[in-house]
Amino acid sequence: DGPETLRPALLAWFDRHARDLPWRTVDGGGQRDPYRVWVSEILLQQTQVVRGRVYFENFVQQFPDVQSLADAPTEDVLKAWEGCGYYARARNLHKAARIIAETQMPTTYDGWLALPGVGPYTAAAISSLAFGEARAVNDGNVRRVLARLYAEVQPGEKWVQAQADALLDPHRPGDWNEALMDLGATICTPRRPNCPACPLSAHCVARRSGDPAAYPVAKKR
Ligand code: ADE
Repeated sequence: DGPETLRPALLAWFDRHARDLPWRTVDGGGQRDPYRVWVSEILLQQTQVVRGRVYFENFVQQFPDVQSLADAPTEDVLKAWEGCGYYARARNLHKAARIIAETQMPTTYDGWLALPGVGPYTAAAISSLAFGEARAVNDGNVRRVLARLYAEVQPGEKWVQAQADALLDPHRPGDWNEALMDLGATICTPRRPNCPACPLSAHCVARRSGDPAAYPVAKKR
């Protein structure tokens, strides 16, 4: 099915079931703090949400904003990252904070993409979640959900991005992206998807096939 059916179904679900995560807090005007969104998306590149939240809380407590991160010695930043692994992430975060402190914080996808440590996924996440730009994220969860929705056995990168772009709700791009992430993490899980609880089950071709977990086939490694 198309965007006009899928968007309201998934967003209504998200409005009720969004996970309560520390980087999702909003200010009085309903805006997310771009700094917190940025730190969380860097952290979650290689760290699972459950483990990531503790590291996130500690990190933003020690470095509550861009300036405090930019001012910190590198060793303090690496120390705060201890246990998360992939230290290049912390080094790039620190480098980027210094660039932002000397110039300004980007407000667009292209602006974020130009910073160290920020690739297409992260730029799409930050620009949609914190700035409302219509950019579709494409990660493992999104790939799995879309593969099942359309019963695509071996979805390629281009196919996934094209579907993600077409489905993205342009009025609520950040919510749409996080709704897909939450659906993939809590319901449309790799092994035993909980289809009866899924807001998209009536539209899901893989479910109709009887064996939704067969989509997508595991990547060869
Ligand atoms: N994984 C990566 N970014 C996330 C987010 N904003 N919410 C939940 N899971 C995520």
